[in-house]
Amino acid sequence: MTREMEAARGWVRDCTSLCVLTGAGVSAESGVPTFRGPEGLWRQRDPMSLATPEAFAEDPKEVWEWYQWRRQRIRGCAPNPGHAALAAVEAAKPDFLLVTQNVDGLHLAAGSRRVAEIHGSIWRVRCAGCGAEREERSDFAELPPRCAACGGLLRPGVVWFGEMLPREPSDAAMEMLTRCEVLIVAGTSAVVAPASGYAAVAKRRGARVIEVNPDETPVSGICDATFRGRSGEILPVLLG
Ligand code: APR
Repeated sequence: MTREMEAARGWVRDCTSLCVLTGAGVSAESGVPTFRGPEGLWRQRDPMSLATPEAFAEDPKEVWEWYQWRRQRIRGCAPNPGHAALAAVEAAKPDFLLVTQNVDGLHLAAGSRRVAEIHGSIWRVRCAGCGAEREERSDFAELPPRCAACGGLLRPGVVWFGEMLPREPSDAAMEMLTRCEVLIVAGTSAVVAPASGYAAVAKRRGARVIEVNPDETPVSGICDATFRGRSGEILPVLLG
């Protein structure tokens, strides 16, 4: 084990307040395509051009075809050892929050409970008309689906580009960043705000920041330790 890993394991072991930020890379080893990786494309469409209110307003059926495809892909994916390690460490920490940008629900499926889904969930739908929101795990027969109550268009319960984050998870994340002793940033390209700024917020306060990512990111330079590799392999060692 490298000296850097030994040191980082010590920080994680000795802290009482631990925050973790995850991105699509943590689910990549479960087979869920990342956004900015080559496998993220659908019908050669860039996800960034579909995950917007404008795209939904223009062609709700196409946007739903993309989400239905993603839901079908994710339904067949299981949590990987990285998810399991995060669920396990939560029990050992009096003060813990897992802030995720992922909408796949795999952290909850792995047993994590103190989770802030700041980009929402692909398993939730919300009526664009009356605002009614519910969980819906099965495929829709008709796309775009309609609200049974008011007949309005149902939309995926996720945050699109240009939209505000859901208040409760976003506030919980910001509050945790003001007190965590250690922040682990795993599997995110750190290019989408506000999550891309979380490492700097924690660092400014004197938290130890640890990155787990095969690639360099814009926050790599401010991290106290960086582990270039797959989260499914590194997190079980770091958190074990
Ligand atoms: N282990 C760890 N990291 C990995 C792995 C892996 N096995 N495989 C890939 N990665 C890294 C990539 O190097 C990249 O830095 O995961 C990151 C994935 O980056 P993105 O695809 O940009 O995903 P993410 O950072 O979660 O995107 C943030 O952007 O599109 C929006 O709302 C969407 O939540 C998403 C947000």
